[in-house]
Amino acid sequence: MKILVTGGLGFIGSHTVVELQNEGFEVVIIDDCSNSSEEVLKGITAISGKTPIFEKIDLKEKESVSDFFKRHDDIQGVIHFAASKAVGESVEKPLLYYENNIATLVYLLKELSNKDNSNFIFSSSCTVYGQADKMPITEDAPVKPAESPYGNTKQIGEEIIRETCKVTDGLNAIALRYFNPMGAHPSAEIGELPIGVPQNLVPFITQTGVGLRQELSVFGDDYPTSDGTCVRDYIYVVDLAKAHVQALQRLLERKNSENYEVFNLGTGKGSSVLEVIHSFENVSGEKLNYKIVDRRAGDITEAYADTTKANEVLGWKAQYSLDEAMKSAWDWEQKIRSQS
Ligand code: WQD
Repeated sequence: MKILVTGGLGFIGSHTVVELQNEGFEVVIIDDCSNSSEEVLKGITAISGKTPIFEKIDLKEKESVSDFFKRHDDIQGVIHFAASKAVGESVEKPLLYYENNIATLVYLLKELSNKDNSNFIFSSSCTVYGQADKMPITEDAPVKPAESPYGNTKQIGEEIIRETCKVTDGLNAIALRYFNPMGAHPSAEIGELPIGVPQNLVPFITQTGVGLRQELSVFGDDYPTSDGTCVRDYIYVVDLAKAHVQALQRLLERKNSENYEVFNLGTGKGSSVLEVIHSFENVSGEKLNYKIVDRRAGDITEAYADTTKANEVLGWKAQYSLDEAMKSAWDWEQKIRSQS
């Protein structure tokens, strides 16, 4: 079975390619390498013993997308990660985000709509909920006005897929709403490669731990939470990758109850920023250098998933703890710094 993974050289994409190859799928990666490197292929091969087919294609080029599907008419499923995903950058460059995240999705869906049947997994985000009214967050929690063009592209993307599935019998799709992905493969062959100063908490913590950053700024400790810092649902990237294989198999085996379904992917447990810092100190044995500063604009207070639907309907459950995920992030950070 040949599966297309767009953005397959990226953080979550590469971990998903490994899990697909471990399950015996043949994988084709499309990536424009704008936020990833072809070097990642070596890590994927080192782990799974197989090198996926790789084509450097810009999905914004409609003809290239169409030509790809002519050459690979035996694609049985598509997992679509390729997108720009920096919240802050999306505020500065909205058109870049709408073109790169929406136009590309439309070109892909046009190709899939021409096939008798196609299976499509969409990388979405808990960001669609904004600050949800009730915790834990279920899939039928209202989608709130996006706080950023990035979040809006995920909401619009889900809408486009839902509307297309309504009028395209052969198209079966699942949107996976990730909470906060973190960590790296236990082999330390692949992991998160943030370019520049990391925006996300965990890579900033490990870069501070390894001495690349002076100290972590904790964005506010005056939130209405147990210790005043924001709460998120940090999910281990390998757990997340396995969920994509599970979702794809659900469609391939026709177990889906509608031709468009949505699942939250989280651990179901909320962790505050200070708890994440303590997790790092536990696993590394190092004290982390941090200071409390003002809140970051756009941050929500709390978000963690209700995982009932993913557990009971998708048949997937996160297996790893925050400490295990943090240990993998720390091992990865130390490895890439020892090589640089
Ligand atoms: C987590 C917490 C910060 C950095 C974003 C996107 C979301 C998804 C994941 C793509 C917050 C605090 C952070 C720092 C800090 N991306 N923090 N100091 O904002 O929950 O989600 O990334 O899908 O769509 O919105 O993740 O890691 O940036 O922040 O105190 O240097 O850590 O305030 O409370 P976030 P994050």
